[in-house]
Amino acid sequence: MSAFKERVFSGVQPTGSLHLGNYLGAIKRFVELQSRMDCIYCVVDLHALTIATPPDELRDGIRGVTAGFLAAGLDPKRSIIFNQSQVHEHAELAWIFSCVARVGWLNRMTQFKEKAGKDRENASAGLYTYPVLMAADILAYKATHVPVGEDQKQHLELTRDIAQKFNADYSASIRARGGADAFFPLTEPLIGGPAARVMSLRDGSKKMSKSDPSDYSRINLTDDIDMIAQKIKKAKTDPHPLPGSAKELATRPEAENLVGIFAALCDTTPDQVLEKHGGAQFSQFKSALVDVAVEKLGALRAEMVRLSNAQDHIDAVLADGARRARAIAHPIIAEVKEIVGLVSAK
Ligand code: TYM
Repeated sequence: MSAFKERVFSGVQPTGSLHLGNYLGAIKRFVELQSRMDCIYCVVDLHALTIATPPDELRDGIRGVTAGFLAAGLDPKRSIIFNQSQVHEHAELAWIFSCVARVGWLNRMTQFKEKAGKDRENASAGLYTYPVLMAADILAYKATHVPVGEDQKQHLELTRDIAQKFNADYSASIRARGGADAFFPLTEPLIGGPAARVMSLRDGSKKMSKSDPSDYSRINLTDDIDMIAQKIKKAKTDPHPLPGSAKELATRPEAENLVGIFAALCDTTPDQVLEKHGGAQFSQFKSALVDVAVEKLGALRAEMVRLSNAQDHIDAVLADGARRARAIAHPIIAEVKEIVGLVSAK
């Protein structure tokens, strides 16, 4: 059995508006976990600075993501909800971890390559060291479980590498302080379900993302009912009717995506969706999907709109969450400083 208390941590960037991939791959699962475990959910605003964002847009984005968390059902009394920049321990630990992580490890990160594109020399240094800050987010709380979409898998492997190297490099110092052998846990990623990777509605080989230039590639959580219906109706498909089992979707990425979205929205499996809809033409299936999407997302959107007029409430939730987050992170970072040999005032 692990010596670490079970604790969930995850984060969402406040860039652009939240979309269905963020909801099904991450936020909906955050809500499910909060009734079973201690959970900390963070709006990672420092990460958003890695790509230039106008300050007013960033501020709106931070509050918008917080509104999305609350509207989806996160309870700020049960879970800790806060924005990263209010807890300076994240940035402090990120520096220490940037001295533990190896340049070779960062060079392998595919998300940096994708985001920096051809103009890599001109990308911010923050974009390059982004996964180090992510490891600090998680380990500042010694989190044992991290629910994320599949695109974050490599970053979580790096988090484990950093934890392992820190534990090994400082093992004598950790033991001398009377601690267990491992100071940091090897965090488990929680990735899975039919929506671990929601794809673009325009191209089944590309992930649904905030940065896709086509708004028709994604369903934003702020889209109204008509817009949701239009986007689903226009979604790319293939000419064949739906098959009878999920196995037969393997070579049909657009069909697989729509069936996966349907299943995730209804808390069921692709096979169960196909039991009912196998043999249907896409026009029929899309109508059923519109009904489900409108039913499940309509109330969420209405609550987000309501909360967009409740800035004081949002800011109070973030301030209270930051205070509670700091109470956990502060003693852990104080211990890290001692382990690595820094001197602090007593
Ligand atoms: P971000 O802001 O890009 O995405 C937030 C969450 O949504 C998931 N996600 C998706 N899931 C399924 N299908 C998709 N198309 C899709 N697009 C996004 C992401 O996997 C993520 O779970 N680096 C992180 C933020 C972060 C973080 C952390 C996460 C910073 N520190 C610590 C966990 C723990 C990111 O950019 O997520």
